[in-house]
Amino acid sequence: MTTETIEVQPDVARISEGLRDTGYEFNTAIADIIDNSIAAGASNVDVRFGADFIGNISVSVADDGCGMDRDGLINAMKYGSKRRADAASLGKFGLGLKTASTAFCKRLALVSRPDGQSAALRAAWDLDFLGQSNSWGLELASAAPHEVQLLNESAQEKSGTVVIWEKVDRLLSDYTRPDGKPLKNALKRQEDSLREHIATVYQRFLDPTDARSRTLTIKLNGAPVSAWDPFCIAEVSAPAVDKTIPVQLPNGQSATFSIRAFILPRKEEFSSTENRNAAKISNERQGVYVYRENRLIHGPDWLGMYKQEPHFRCFASSCHSTTSSMMRFR
Ligand SMILES: Nc1ncnc2c1ncn2[C@@H]1O[C@H](COP(=O)(O)OP(=O)(O)OP(=O)(O)O)[C@@H](O)[C@H]1O
Ligand SMILES: [Mg+2]
Repeated sequence: MTTETIEVQPDVARISEGLRDTGYEFNTAIADIIDNSIAAGASNVDVRFGADFIGNISVSVADDGCGMDRDGLINAMKYGSKRRADAASLGKFGLGLKTASTAFCKRLALVSRPDGQSAALRAAWDLDFLGQSNSWGLELASAAPHEVQLLNESAQEKSGTVVIWEKVDRLLSDYTRPDGKPLKNALKRQEDSLREHIATVYQRFLDPTDARSRTLTIKLNGAPVSAWDPFCIAEVSAPAVDKTIPVQLPNGQSATFSIRAFILPRKEEFSSTENRNAAKISNERQGVYVYRENRLIHGPDWLGMYKQEPHFRCFASSCHSTTSSMMRFR
């Protein structure tokens, strides 16, 4: 038999549903969306989530980045968007926006405009529609007034983008009473956990005194997120170890990464109760924090070398790669 090549189209309903299960947690999903805002040059990011009076949860992330025109929106919504021009960008695979969003919602809308003169457009994937039609039918329309308002609140009549999750079916379990305390408490716990995550992952962007990256304001449900410094620089004047290590990459390029290790004061050694509480010394926060392009990409943990345990509670180490490619440390 001669060999032939036949084109086999993936099943839209099965693929779009299957890609919901790529293992995202809520905090990491929102961080993927914020990465896109940072890559778009945003200075302001506004994250909101909550439930309406009948218990429907919605999530939005608005920014004042470069925004997109119609073609840009279509590319952004494509599973496998074009490779980004900037190798140092936080985005690599052309999938994050879609997979992070649909891990939690069945309808993803992207509202954007490339400048203050253009009308904002909305592109949306609705998984129910994809399932029923079994076609990659992307919905394109003018943005609704409330979406434009969300955009304007961050973008101030200039360029910007809003990511909107609707039909959020996988964030919290079902609550019988949408006005009840259990749902409110669950949302509050989620908000607190997300605030901590953003404060840690984007510490260098959120701290205006940190010269390693530009400054970014991230608001969560109206309140700005403050940076959290795992290494307690306010108390530890110098790292115990500070090394820059050159490495040869498999593609022949050379790069460096730097390792800095910090020993945090014991509880009784802190100069103030405020600093001691802010340090949040605990087993879970010890270990190696790995950064790429000033964003925490892994950790803290001991990269498989040790277990997190009370004796190491005051150790934290930062590992920062200066290459734009991902590095593995094991
Ligand atoms: N907030 C935004 N502002 C401007 N453009 C955006 C924004 N969000 C997404 N985009 C565009 O959509 C494209 C697809 O985003 P997506 O997150 O799916 O992939 P990526 O960031 O390129 O890679 P990764 O899969 O690693 O996240 C981006 O490359 C960018 O062009
Ligand atoms: Mg991305």
